[in-house]
Amino acid sequence: MQLPTLREIFEAHDRLGSDKWTTYFGAYDDHFARFRERPITLLEIGIQNGGSLEIWAKYFANATRIVGCDIDEKCRDLTFEDPRISVVIGDANSANSYQAVTSDVAAFDIVIDDGSHLVSDVIQSFALYFPKVKPGGVYVIEDLHTSYWEGFGGGSDLDLSSMGFLKLLADVVNKEFWRDDRVGFNLLQNYASRYDVAVNDAGLEIDEVAFGNSVCIIRKKVLDGEENRRHITGNVFKVLDYTEVKPLSGSKELLNSLHITRNLMPATARQAEFVQLSATTLENVRRIEQLDAELRTVSTSANEALTQAQQEIASANDALASVNDALAHARQEIASLKNSYSWRLTAPLRYMRLTTPLRYVKAVFRH
Ligand SMILES: C[S@@+](CC[C@H](N)C(=O)[O-])C[C@H]1O[C@@H](n2cnc3c(N)ncnc32)[C@H](O)[C@@H]1O
Repeated sequence: MQLPTLREIFEAHDRLGSDKWTTYFGAYDDHFARFRERPITLLEIGIQNGGSLEIWAKYFANATRIVGCDIDEKCRDLTFEDPRISVVIGDANSANSYQAVTSDVAAFDIVIDDGSHLVSDVIQSFALYFPKVKPGGVYVIEDLHTSYWEGFGGGSDLDLSSMGFLKLLADVVNKEFWRDDRVGFNLLQNYASRYDVAVNDAGLEIDEVAFGNSVCIIRKKVLDGEENRRHITGNVFKVLDYTEVKPLSGSKELLNSLHITRNLMPATARQAEFVQLSATTLENVRRIEQLDAELRTVSTSANEALTQAQQEIASANDALASVNDALAHARQEIASLKNSYSWRLTAPLRYMRLTTPLRYVKAVFRH
């Protein structure tokens, strides 16, 4: 029987809300097909309204545990009818949440990071939870468009972004062909230092990194002991003759005879240059952060001085306003005094007091 697609389940869903991009549906149908009917465990970082957990429960009908983790306290009030679903409240990258998630379910077939999408969180979550993916399981990162956005700690030309990190994981897939055994060499060193995480290409067993629009799916290698060997079949070799080496097909000797060696080649010049360039980028990023902090300090004190000057102007304006009030009050009092009956009644007296001496002076001069 044909199982319903993720899109069909998503569109028919009628309980808690969920928010996914169209391009994820096909990518998930392709990469999750082998898990559809298995008793898997799944972790989703960032659940918001909780609907995606319900949708995963329908999509993986035989899943045994579906765990969500969200930093938002409001997620505590979400209720789920399916007993396989549980939620941990807290920052997925904190020790407490990590403990709560992993003490309950020891390892996951699928981990989906749909959390903050900040570059620092994406890389810290990968460093924490990729080790908890079962061999053959997948680690998924959604909304990678944020890797190009400054507000999320990214940038389109920034090596130290989520996409920059994931592109290096594509090299990790092929590490048997380039990795050398120099002590301390770590292709991911700059990310480890920048985001303060223990992530080292030497410890990562990855056999596929698939990129879709805004999504990356990383598959953990199954360590079944089988080495990658070169195999030769067929009997007709018209272009390059393998007749002599064909009996060695699939053996280490064949690799040697074809001059393919592994774990012996030094890191390529490009990788060394990349590590050097990234170190310079890291230095520049640190300098920018330092200048930014200095700028913030200067602008804080300038703002404080401005606030103080504004306060002083405001109190001078208050003082001026009270002087003006007092003046207006005095004028009003003078006006009402002049309009008063007693002022008008005493007007002749004031007139006489003024005019009598004048008249006397005039009389003296006339005679
Ligand atoms: C895009 S929403 C998740 C949507 C949900 N997965 C869905 O498909 O419908 C992102 C969620 O991540 C949560 N979040 C942000 N930072 C987090 C962190 N450090 N740890 C756990 N959750 C986080 C936010 O609270 C928010 O609810």
